[in-house]
Amino acid sequence: MTDFTPKLAFVCGSLRDGSINRKLEVALMHRVASHGGTAEAVSLSDYDMPIYHGDLETPATVPALIDTLAGYDGIVIVTPEYNGSLPPVLKNAVDWTSTVSTRWIKDQTFGIASCTPGPMSGIMCLRELAFLLRRLGGDVVPTQVGVGNAANAFDGDGRLSAQPSSDFADQMLSSVIGMARRKHAAPDSDGGEPDGGEEE
Ligand SMILES: Cc1cc2nc3c(=O)[nH]c(=O)nc-3n(C[C@H](O)[C@H](O)[C@H](O)COP(=O)(O)O)c2cc1C
Repeated sequence: MTDFTPKLAFVCGSLRDGSINRKLEVALMHRVASHGGTAEAVSLSDYDMPIYHGDLETPATVPALIDTLAGYDGIVIVTPEYNGSLPPVLKNAVDWTSTVSTRWIKDQTFGIASCTPGPMSGIMCLRELAFLLRRLGGDVVPTQVGVGNAANAFDGDGRLSAQPSSDFADQMLSSVIGMARRKHAAPDSDGGEPDGGEEE
């Protein structure tokens, strides 16, 4: 058994006060220790960037965000779904950083999650997010966490209580930490996910 403790970054695609995705992010972060890792939130509000266009100079926040995120063993992205797609704050951060370096994505291990007030579970944005991260060389674990009906999904202490989302949360975190460990043990491997399948 290795004494390596994977360090996970949590990134939320909503910056608003009272965000249900931030609530899900915090609930997921609280579970990380039980899977043998540590968790830190990296807020995109600390890396403010204008909407990308090619005439702008790269803001200093872009390499700073790359450096920060490249320092983790895995990244969990928790994001709202906007019109079946990704919110601009998240896509903008990916687009800006990709003009400098994708080293925070390439070969990195990702878990993805989404929370919505409606009966669906953010499945459309999760598919887009998985595609985007894989397109840039990231490894997205098969189990993704979609939480619908947010008003009934958490208990009074903010813990994720709804099923099957709660089980998927543990499966996702376990997979992210397991893949991070395998990559640490064999840095040239892809950390292969033995479970297979994809669930929301
Ligand atoms: C522009 C916009 C588009 C939205 N589109 C969707 C959608 O496609 N699917 C969905 O489930 N919710 C959609 N919503 C509702 C969001 O899920 C809801 O506002 C949620 O609370 C946002 O996440 P947050 O609380 O973390 O900020 C949309 C909200 C906005 C503002």
